[in-house]
Amino acid sequence: MMLLNKIMLWVFLLVTWLLLVSCGSEAPPVVAPEAEPSSQTPVPSLTDVNALYADRCAICHGEKRQGRYGQGGALTPESLAGKSDTVIREVISEGIPYTNMPAWNGRLSAEEINAVVQFIKYTSP
Ligand code: HEC
Repeated sequence: MMLLNKIMLWVFLLVTWLLLVSCGSEAPPVVAPEAEPSSQTPVPSLTDVNALYADRCAICHGEKRQGRYGQGGALTPESLAGKSDTVIREVISEGIPYTNMPAWNGRLSAEEINAVVQFIKYTSP
């Protein structure tokens, strides 16, 4: 009986001490949950694609994708109707030899290239 009392006392003391320690210390800083680690770049939104086009493509293909004389041709659903997504994606990623069309592979992610393909082939300027 004595022993049990002693154990109870120690448990009580330990619990009280733990409570005191945890209450006395500052509340732990709220840590924002870590963003899900992901190997994929998020798919750019349409606004990003607009900006991407304006930054990287408009100088040769025209702000309204109408093409620029002596530079790149038009990039519109009409002008690209005869080409598959795959072909367009390859052109963008590899460029066109002996023209000014650069290879974007390495400068744009696969997701960005996909998004720009969708943009030029399926949205009207
Ligand atoms: C330095 C100038 C230049 C820049 C910048 C440029 N292009 Fe081009 N692009 C060209 C030229 C020149 C051609 C070949 C002539 C043509 O057919 O338009 C071409 C061709 C293309 C074609 C093939 C068109 C077709 O009808 O077969 C696609 C698709 C294309 N570019 C997409 C892009 C995209 C997307 C960007 C931006 C990420 C871009 N280009 C940036 C110059 C450029």
